[in-house]
Amino acid sequence: MDSLNRHEDYGQESLDETHLLADPIEQFKIWLREAEAAEIYEPNAFVLGTVDAENHSRSRTVLLKGVDERGFFFATNYLSRKGEAVAANPNVSAAFGWYPMYRQVLIQGFAEKVVGAESDEYFASRPHDSQVAAWSSHQSQLIENRAALDGQFDQALAKFDGVEVPRPDYWGGYRIVATRIEFWKGRSNRMHDRIEFVRHMTMDGVLSDWQVQRLQP
Ligand SMILES: Cc1cc2nc3c(=O)[nH]c(=O)nc-3n(C[C@H](O)[C@H](O)[C@H](O)COP(=O)(O)O)c2cc1C
Repeated sequence: MDSLNRHEDYGQESLDETHLLADPIEQFKIWLREAEAAEIYEPNAFVLGTVDAENHSRSRTVLLKGVDERGFFFATNYLSRKGEAVAANPNVSAAFGWYPMYRQVLIQGFAEKVVGAESDEYFASRPHDSQVAAWSSHQSQLIENRAALDGQFDQALAKFDGVEVPRPDYWGGYRIVATRIEFWKGRSNRMHDRIEFVRHMTMDGVLSDWQVQRLQP
């Protein structure tokens, strides 16, 4: 396991406040496009962190399926462990690691279920067999073996053969409304650049303007 003892130089390319747009969501889009251009594998994958009703934290990878001024959209099963956690505690985190570019974006905020019509639209855009899979897997529930899982899939395939697959009501999108977005750029000697945008929700439920600050590495 050579990687455990490697000390890679993360390079001289710097990141400061003047390199970034004033709107961190627009800046995020630029970095995502640059990760795509650099042919990073699954550049839209991120690690979603949740905290459940018993205060246990859990992380898992999901795929970003949309980003706009409202936030970061992903889709999943609402009855999964992450769905149960978000129902109990909407505070979530998202970590994008574009390691070959020495870049990381860390997001903190809260997750909201998107409206049904938006989930319908996204579900309709998915391949038929992925739609069938949403019916045939009760995500995060136990199952006795692989054969039983394959059986559920085959049953659902037969049921929806040649017909449009409706969206199950337990499956849909969340949007992460960000209150903190950090852009991290690796630098030589572990003196990395960290520029963080912060905003808060006012008493009236309105999001304040973004403030920008630098963090020590
Ligand atoms: C690259 C990658 C992408 C994934 N994308 C999703 C996704 O978009 N939605 C999802 O529900 N699970 C996705 N998963 C599976 C999750 O990591 C996880 O196993 C699943 O959502 C169940 O998590 P939970 O039991 O904590 O709810 C992905 C896994 C990987 C490795």
